[in-house]
Amino acid sequence: MNTKFDVIVIGAGPAGYVAAIRCAQLGMTVVCVDEWQNPGGESALGGTCLNVGCIPSKALLESSHLFALAQHEFSNHGINIGKPKIDVAALMARKNKVVHELTQGVTGLFKANQVEFVHGHAALSPGKKVNVIERGSKKVLHTLEADNIIIASGSSAIKLEQAPLQPDCIVDSAGALAFESVPASLGIIGAGAIGLELGSVWSRLGSDVVLIEAMDEFLPVVDKQISRAAFRSLKKQGLDIRINARLISTEIKRKKVYVTYEDSRGAQQVVFDKLVVAVGRKPNSDYLFGDEMALELDERHHILVNEYCETSVPGIYAIGDVVRGPMLAHKGFEEGVMVAERIAGRAVFVNYDLVPSVIYTYPEIAWVGKTEQECEALDIPVTTGVFPMSASGRARAMAATEGMVKIIAHKETDRVLGVHIICAQASELISQAVTAMEMHSSVEDIALTMFAHPTLAEAVHEAALAVHKRAIHIKN
Ligand code: FAD
Ligand code: NAI
Repeated sequence: MNTKFDVIVIGAGPAGYVAAIRCAQLGMTVVCVDEWQNPGGESALGGTCLNVGCIPSKALLESSHLFALAQHEFSNHGINIGKPKIDVAALMARKNKVVHELTQGVTGLFKANQVEFVHGHAALSPGKKVNVIERGSKKVLHTLEADNIIIASGSSAIKLEQAPLQPDCIVDSAGALAFESVPASLGIIGAGAIGLELGSVWSRLGSDVVLIEAMDEFLPVVDKQISRAAFRSLKKQGLDIRINARLISTEIKRKKVYVTYEDSRGAQQVVFDKLVVAVGRKPNSDYLFGDEMALELDERHHILVNEYCETSVPGIYAIGDVVRGPMLAHKGFEEGVMVAERIAGRAVFVNYDLVPSVIYTYPEIAWVGKTEQECEALDIPVTTGVFPMSASGRARAMAATEGMVKIIAHKETDRVLGVHIICAQASELISQAVTAMEMHSSVEDIALTMFAHPTLAEAVHEAALAVHKRAIHIKN
């Protein structure tokens, strides 16, 4: 095998595979090293996102949403199918098929772009060398060399001392994406993105779900008006979200998980069939370096990089979850492209102020830019416009009237500062807000744009009109 390349990419998740493909498109010779192994022992490209993250979670969210519609909504449409039943094995098989097709898709893209793939653990050595090591035997399989190295080693679930993982009882998000049956009761430590998405999946399928959240505020990064609406909606669906709840201990007795936590009323105990630990992720920056090699890390163990993802060593870059910033696949995609372009001598950068965020509950929660509370804290004078989905014709036709679109604008310049959405398909609606903000749009620009009728996206138009107190379909 050839061992000298223009670029070595460590990690084939969203950040790494995109970097590898873009480098190859720009004419560089590229090898990508990844150690991912499925429970069956086979390698798979796509990293966390494709194997145990974005994609399988969305597949299960879709199936469970359809199940909830069949149970609660079909009869309103005059569709009578009797009591629907869930077949967990079939649901998981569908999810696995989606994952397999997409990971195979990345393999195909590597072949099409002549990106070479090597399976194994990569350890960086001085002189821009990478040893590829067989996990079990620790045998060095190859020593690769390149002018440029891109580290995209991703992140792993944070573990909790008070709730050590136990097969079948206490699991992380990967475990909760692969339950073989619907647990009658499910506890989740952490009411963040994973807790809410996987809590929604299993609650829709029939579990009694309790989320135990340490913070005294629900979704503190989300605009308060939106997080309040989300809390109400998720509670109505049956998610029991307990905030300000500090986990003390867990104990397994007769295959049940006994969880003790403390809240303002004192120590509380709840018993679950299964418990999911979803308290955040940590960068994979350990075990990356061989002897005599290290890169500077920050206090949270991210590889330290500048705004161009350059590390402290020239020619070595780091991107995706292993570096600062939100742990999101699309942020990794863009960093992958930026680094490839910069290696090719082009001046591309990532706009970190406009990274969209989505939580794929129902309704979905999506936002970009500043919240009203952030603007207040920064003394930025703002005006806001809110359009409720209950006033949208398309939302009514879809029976999706929950939620709203909120636009925050600079009071003097009319510049859009933030867009916050909670509604069906908010994940799709947010992209037009990102586009508008990338183009430095004013609220008036959105207000003067024609939107197709009837669409959910019209709510963005009406929210812009509402900023100027001239929305048509609500009282201003
Ligand atoms: P990863 O995807 O973690 O990939 C890193 C790869 O590097 C892995 O394949 C790993 O095996 C390999 N690797 C690590 N170290 C080495 C080494 N030394 N040698 C060789 N290989 C190595 N994000 C979103 O944007 N949208 C979502 O809807 C979303 N949903 C999620 C749902 C869940 C349940 C989880 C857990 C995460 C979700 N995320 C979502 C986050 C998203 O998965 C990550 O942000 C994304 O995968 C990060 O990409 P990455 O390429 O940086 O790292
Ligand atoms: P998170 O950071 O979103 O949420 C973790 C939650 O756990 C926080 O609310 C935190 O306060 C709480 N917590 C921490 N320690 C705790 C403790 N000891 N007891 C109780 N609560 C505790 O992290 P999460 O949900 O694990 O997701 C990890 C990452 O994956 C996210 O940062 C996100 O970037 C990404 N992700 C993105 C998704 C999306 O884009 N839709 C979906 C799922 C994950």
